[in-house]
Amino acid sequence: MSTFKAPKGTYDLIPPFSAQYLAVRDAIAAPLRTSGYGYVETPGFEDVNLFARGVGESTDIVSKEMYAFETKGGDKLALRPEGTASVLRAALEASLHKQGNLPVKLWYSGSYYRYERPQKGRYRHFSQVGAEAIGAEDPALDAELIILADQAYRSLGLRNFRILLNSLGDKECRPVYREALQGFLRGLDLDDDTRRRIEINPLRVLDDKREAVQKQLVGAPLLRDYLCDACKAYHEEVRALITSAGVVFEDDAKLVRGLDYYTRTTFEFVHDGLGSQSAVGGGGRYDGLSEMIGGPALPSVGWALGVDRTVLALEAEGIELDIPAATSVFAVPLGDEARRVLFGVVTELRKAGVATDFSFGAKGLKGHMKNANRSGARYAIVAGERDLAEGVVQLKDMESGEQQAVALDGLVEAVRTRLA
Ligand code: HAM
Repeated sequence: MSTFKAPKGTYDLIPPFSAQYLAVRDAIAAPLRTSGYGYVETPGFEDVNLFARGVGESTDIVSKEMYAFETKGGDKLALRPEGTASVLRAALEASLHKQGNLPVKLWYSGSYYRYERPQKGRYRHFSQVGAEAIGAEDPALDAELIILADQAYRSLGLRNFRILLNSLGDKECRPVYREALQGFLRGLDLDDDTRRRIEINPLRVLDDKREAVQKQLVGAPLLRDYLCDACKAYHEEVRALITSAGVVFEDDAKLVRGLDYYTRTTFEFVHDGLGSQSAVGGGGRYDGLSEMIGGPALPSVGWALGVDRTVLALEAEGIELDIPAATSVFAVPLGDEARRVLFGVVTELRKAGVATDFSFGAKGLKGHMKNANRSGARYAIVAGERDLAEGVVQLKDMESGEQQAVALDGLVEAVRTRLA
């Protein structure tokens, strides 16, 4: 072991477990890639003010959890705690919204950083796959995103997740509700911190996990009862579209999210086998974010699914993804001459698109075959001096144990035929 360990709240992805991660990322991205979303990648850090303005100064993410730092050149940056603000910044910077029809649909995958108290499912470095549809106010877009996330989870075999859905209203109706909620909250018996929160971000108080607070919140005014007609109609349309796609959801009038940019549609995917860190993904509409970061009005909607928690959800449901072995063919040279020849064969097979590995380093047939077994390859190519003198190699079927001499000059074709 080295003197160093992965920093607190982080962990390494190591084979073979890491293959599950890649498969989860691919499964989440797959429905996006076939639904018109283009891949976007942004830097791991941004101007700190992008998040302060976008995500919200008073949110825990910005006020407590951000890895903010000043560079030697005096730039104030932060490791990205989430992807939406960055993706919108990138889209605006590249003027994607001016280059064709709206919405601009983008997907991304990467690492995010929050200085949180680590526990199972909550890390300081974690991974998300996300999608953002920028520049259109259309309930079908909100519905599309929810349906695609549902499809991604189902393709992984997940069943014990629920979709919670709410509307947070817009700039017309939310302020009226906010005031009503503040009036209610000011009358409760709450600590100083929470009292401060009532003035800055009262909706977050609804999300307080403490029982003593939750008890007092019974009877709090609900945003649902304050939605303006436009927001109500929009929300009903989203609900109808998701329902007709056969996607089951629960209305959750108390769902508020930890980021300030949300308007109207908000949703969360929760998994019931994960304990307190049950949110495997979340998202919603953020119609005002573009203007908040200096852009034009671009109503938008998106989500991000947590890869770490999705992997934990698979574990909780006892699902093992069927990941095919990375290697199809494993070459075992017996002797120096065979080493040189088989190394060439490996290169040829790889060029022909066959996933091939070579027994490096091992000594003796036993050691080589151990390597071959560990690789999970379907076939082993074994060759010694005598085989080569006859212009053949031994092609061994690792499942049946059967072995056959195959001419060296027809090997690539022979292997491809068998694998097909
Ligand atoms: P979020 O709800 O903050 O939303 O994060 C989305 C998902 O990332 C969570 O549901 C969770 O699975 C995962 N996640 C968040 N924090 C951690 C952590 N500390 N450890 C492990 N996993 C974590 C957003 O980030 C928004 N940008 C989503 C969005 C996109 N809204 C609109 N577009």
